[in-house]
Amino acid sequence: MFGVKISSIGIYLPSKRVSNYDLEKIIDTTDEWITQRTGIKYRYIVEDSITTSDLALYASLNAINNLNNEIDKIDLIVLATNSPDYIIPATASVLHGKLKTKTNLITDNTGSMDVFSGCTAFVYALITASSLIKAGIYKNILLVGAESISKLVDWTDRTVCILLGDGAGSFILSADNSIDKGIIDANVGSDGTKFDLIYVPVGGVKEPPTCENLSDRYLKMVGREVFKIAITLVPSKIKELLEKNNLNPDDIKLYIFHQANIRIINGIIENLKIDPNRVYNNIDKYANTSAASVPIAFYEALKEKLVKEGDLILFSAFGAGFTWANVIWRL
Ligand SMILES: CC(C)(COP(=O)(O)OP(=O)(O)OC[C@H]1O[C@@H](n2cnc3c(N)ncnc32)[C@H](O)[C@@H]1OP(=O)(O)O)[C@@H](O)C(=O)NCCC(=O)NCCS
Repeated sequence: MFGVKISSIGIYLPSKRVSNYDLEKIIDTTDEWITQRTGIKYRYIVEDSITTSDLALYASLNAINNLNNEIDKIDLIVLATNSPDYIIPATASVLHGKLKTKTNLITDNTGSMDVFSGCTAFVYALITASSLIKAGIYKNILLVGAESISKLVDWTDRTVCILLGDGAGSFILSADNSIDKGIIDANVGSDGTKFDLIYVPVGGVKEPPTCENLSDRYLKMVGREVFKIAITLVPSKIKELLEKNNLNPDDIKLYIFHQANIRIINGIIENLKIDPNRVYNNIDKYANTSAASVPIAFYEALKEKLVKEGDLILFSAFGAGFTWANVIWRL
């Protein structure tokens, strides 16, 4: 058994920033409505020519440049996304091809796989990747959360388009001899009967695109229902995980929640009586970047030196599926 350390982190945001005021010009909404209902002020949106694998590439090169220890090779790429470049192959494989020409850490013996499970995907992927390292199967894994989710958004649908943004974050996870480093415990779950609360009806094999159904190729969401489930389910599952590990909310130095809605996050922290100073949020700057929100938030929290080696962190996410996951992590 090994411990798992985060050897490096990198992020990437597209250059085009869109404010709530910009959205006022294209849909029937206001800055006040969006800010009060969600906490969002801005989001970054990719250009037409850029896709998820590009954002993943830039965030991963940033992480590789930020490495300060010697890593000989990366054994596996795990990419969490809901806006894949293609249905086949995995976007992780496209990323592999792009990275291979830029770094000798990526070789023909580096595996590549996607995790495609809603906004929870990065936390699911974190559990998967760190368990493989802990078990001694792999030494170094590139773990990426990347989304060009704006391409799945109907920019005339004011109930959805205000919520989302593009971006990417990459962790390089490595085996460490201190066995107590990395993943301490996790809980996950899903309710597949609620798969259609957040989904793209057309584009998969169930509803292939035709001339008649193209308007359904965009993301649909029953926002009010998602809100109600998240605000009760997530705190109850965090409470279960903390209690199982004999931890109080104050034993966690920093909470990194999926940045979906500031009212959901505030509801969770009120319910669990978590000190707001122990919670890092950046939803105002980036909106909901889906599978990229947790690594982007953690990167910024590290830059602000909010945690140090040995601290406990809780990563928490929920999203389409309906899925949820929580991880207690020792830095
Ligand atoms: C989407 C969300 C912000 C909507 O907030 P809400 O308080 O539930 O608002 P409602 O959906 O009840 O809509 C209230 C009214 O605002 C209107 N409205 C919806 N979007 C609007 C917008 N962008 N601007 C202005 N008005 C809007 C609705 O049409 C509705 O009008 P009506 O009362 O005349 O019918 C909120 O439900 C939410 O954040 N849900 C979670 C979504 C989420 O996080 N999804 C990702 C999960 S990973």
